[in-house]
Amino acid sequence: MSAHLNQSRRRFLSQSALGLFACASMPGLLHAMEGMGDMPRTKPNLANPNFNPDVEFDLHCRNTSISILPGATTQVQQYSANLIKGPKDTLTDIPGSYLGPIIRLQKGQKVRIRLHNHLAEPTITHWHGLHVPANMDGHPVYVIDPGVKFVYEFEVLNRAGMNIYHPHPHDATAKQVYHGLAGALLVNDEEEAALGLPSGAYEIPIVIQDRLFSAQNQLIYARNMHDRMTGFYGDKILVNGRPDFKLDVESRAYRLRVLNGSTARIYKLAWDDGSPITIIGVDGGLLEKPETKPYVMLAPGERLDVWADFSGRKAGSELVMRSKPFSGVLPHMMGGGMGGGMGGMMHANALPVGSDYPIFTVRVTKHVSDSPTLPTQLSKITRYQLQDTANPHNPVPISISESPMAMLLNGRPYAYNDVQAIEKIPVNSIQLIEISHAHGGHGDSAKQATAEQADEKPSQGMRHGMMGGMGMGGMGRMGGMSGGGMGGMGMMMTMAHPIHLHGQSYQIFSRKIDKGTQADYDTVSEGFINNGWKDTVLVMPGETVRIIKPFQDFKGLFMYHCHNLEHEDMGMMRDFLVE
Ligand code: C2O
Ligand code: CU
Ligand code: CU
Repeated sequence: MSAHLNQSRRRFLSQSALGLFACASMPGLLHAMEGMGDMPRTKPNLANPNFNPDVEFDLHCRNTSISILPGATTQVQQYSANLIKGPKDTLTDIPGSYLGPIIRLQKGQKVRIRLHNHLAEPTITHWHGLHVPANMDGHPVYVIDPGVKFVYEFEVLNRAGMNIYHPHPHDATAKQVYHGLAGALLVNDEEEAALGLPSGAYEIPIVIQDRLFSAQNQLIYARNMHDRMTGFYGDKILVNGRPDFKLDVESRAYRLRVLNGSTARIYKLAWDDGSPITIIGVDGGLLEKPETKPYVMLAPGERLDVWADFSGRKAGSELVMRSKPFSGVLPHMMGGGMGGGMGGMMHANALPVGSDYPIFTVRVTKHVSDSPTLPTQLSKITRYQLQDTANPHNPVPISISESPMAMLLNGRPYAYNDVQAIEKIPVNSIQLIEISHAHGGHGDSAKQATAEQADEKPSQGMRHGMMGGMGMGGMGRMGGMSGGGMGGMGMMMTMAHPIHLHGQSYQIFSRKIDKGTQADYDTVSEGFINNGWKDTVLVMPGETVRIIKPFQDFKGLFMYHCHNLEHEDMGMMRDFLVE
């Protein structure tokens, strides 16, 4: 944590009545929060002379500037790469974009990547979605200083799918991603190749991000604690790094590889003419069968493989992909005092989350008579059953708690070397995991499970339970005591969180929604794809999501965190120790 943030966090605490409560009763937690910046360093990995790569490239990250809006160029941070060994199509630059090159890998390839840090700050790169050894995963303990290099070596074990590469330094992930450090990493395999899906000029990456620009065309980032609490939202939508993105197409089927690269913004994607949207894949690759939806939700870190068939459309016609209205993902902080102030801050955004706005425009520029047809069967996926798991009766909890001071998982902020009993996972096991909210009556079972499985002395269990409940329990009590603004804000602090787990993809086993939040839930729930392999799942307020995840092959620390990257940086991140 930077000294600056530390200071603003203290100021925030001391200004609020809540701060008194928190300081009086949560010294351990505050101590942990202040220690968040104390990540030890592990020596950068060097090349192993016995590793014989099929693909090898340099990956650079540096400060640069690029023209995004008319007028002055914008200072950004950018990945660039140069191929040393391997197929020519391994790296493809996106012209005019701050995004890193598209990396294409084949299942089974051995890959060596030399990451060079030319920034003025530490960084490390994570391969979001890839199943790689713990020391190749870009864990923040591996951050490298400016001028230093880190060598990754791994074999591509994943099935075909769209993954993401992005920085993962603790407390600075959001800022670096926001300033441009991110890219798409596509894996291909034989199962997918046999389908003959649209490729080449007919397979289009669509990376959706929101940004806020100053009058001088410079990126503005999180200015205060509130921006971090809710997540930071820009007012301009960029696709592949460009504003007002237009895609010129022929009247035939396309494959759109869509990725939400925003730090916090959640989208509800739909075609503006009311045609349904056809999904053929999600985070971890192809579905078994295509799914047709009126709209589809896309939270930060999630991916969608969209079959977009423009055949039958006239040359000259246009179609717009929009984000449609929905509610319930942000805290409603209305009312007096601080609550009003925060509500005001959030609603000042010219592009409110959950409003109706365009993402990009498709222009049919050429009529063609031929188009590939949508396969009815895309892949084979064996659904996990409860009895496949090591723990059908006591799910591993991921209990979410949120408050203005801290975003916690299982009652704790991020700290290195702080693995709790419930966070230890036997290697080569398949685990049932329950993601729930720790407050407001939700997630009680998870909290119990936390205490039980923690296998700790009751006093310690109590302490963790209390810290877990602190987010809302504490605030609720404050509200009751003081009435008015704080209470109102506290009561409504709950929000949606895209929960991401490193390592292998998982399956969504069940979703359960609390009745109190059903109305909001109804505005998004038809847009969830619950089949297929996921690594990031949007958990709505009042929702409990059970997932089944394999932890095969690799021991070591694998992170789980909220992919609202501001939340991640605020500490809503933990490690599983696979052993
Ligand atoms: Cu895309 Cu640990 O994150
Ligand atoms: Cu990841
Ligand atoms: Cu979150």
